[in-house]
Amino acid sequence: MAATPTLPTRTAGPGPCLAYLGPGAAGHFVKMAHNGIEYALEQLLAESYDLLHRGLGLDFEELAKVFTGYNQGLLKSYLVEITSHILNRRDEHTGQPLVALIQDVAGQKGTGIWTSKAALDLGIPVPTIDIAVAWRHLSALKEERVLRRASEVYDYNLDLATVTRVWRGGCIIRAALLEDILAAYRDRPDLPNFLLHPDLGRKVAGRQGDWREVVKAAIDWGLPAPALMASLAYLDAYRSRRLPANLIQAQRDYFGAHTYERVDRDGAFHTDWLPG
Ligand code: 3PG
Repeated sequence: MAATPTLPTRTAGPGPCLAYLGPGAAGHFVKMAHNGIEYALEQLLAESYDLLHRGLGLDFEELAKVFTGYNQGLLKSYLVEITSHILNRRDEHTGQPLVALIQDVAGQKGTGIWTSKAALDLGIPVPTIDIAVAWRHLSALKEERVLRRASEVYDYNLDLATVTRVWRGGCIIRAALLEDILAAYRDRPDLPNFLLHPDLGRKVAGRQGDWREVVKAAIDWGLPAPALMASLAYLDAYRSRRLPANLIQAQRDYFGAHTYERVDRDGAFHTDWLPG
């Protein structure tokens, strides 16, 4: 058995940012889980920024003040601190808030996906990490549906009208709504998402008020309804012209120089975000 490496002695403060964590891949596993948590925190911060910005109408100056305030209280943390720096930053070319010019498409190197996969294999629920991964995918693939994407990636050559017809026929997920979905795909076989069909889109939109009331009631009553909430959030994200993934891209560029794309010019950009 390999000897445990000698580590620097812990001094004042949090101590060195390293430790021997265990045999085999233990260290890699812990780093992977760290990144999964990182994805979840970034998604939570992006949602908070979106609610304050698009929901309450705060401008970027006000947002920077709010996040600076968060970093002086219970929420004090590296990611909240860098978010306040990001929200404060002006673009040197246009003078506009830089984060507003960043494309709302979040990149990823894959460690969040590994964390979700590992948690599924272990039977451990990590819904916030799962959602964070899914929302990064959604930010990049908001025009595509899962089966259509699988068909392209795996060369399945799926005809979604046929899939819908088969599901409608006698399987466990058969439902009256599949008739509408089948009609939508027969009418427009190349639709990237059946929600984009005018008839079906109108039908779903007509029900969203009730759906929101149910989700609000679940929140008020303190009852968990994660699937209802996640599917409503999916609908809202899908019909959003812009998602808050631009903040995640700015954070990734801040701590990892992962670069970002802009809405107003082509190329990959990096900013030295530290306040001067
Ligand atoms: C890091 O810099 O910590 C990671 O690269 C972040 O992971 P991501 O690039 O998948 O967001």
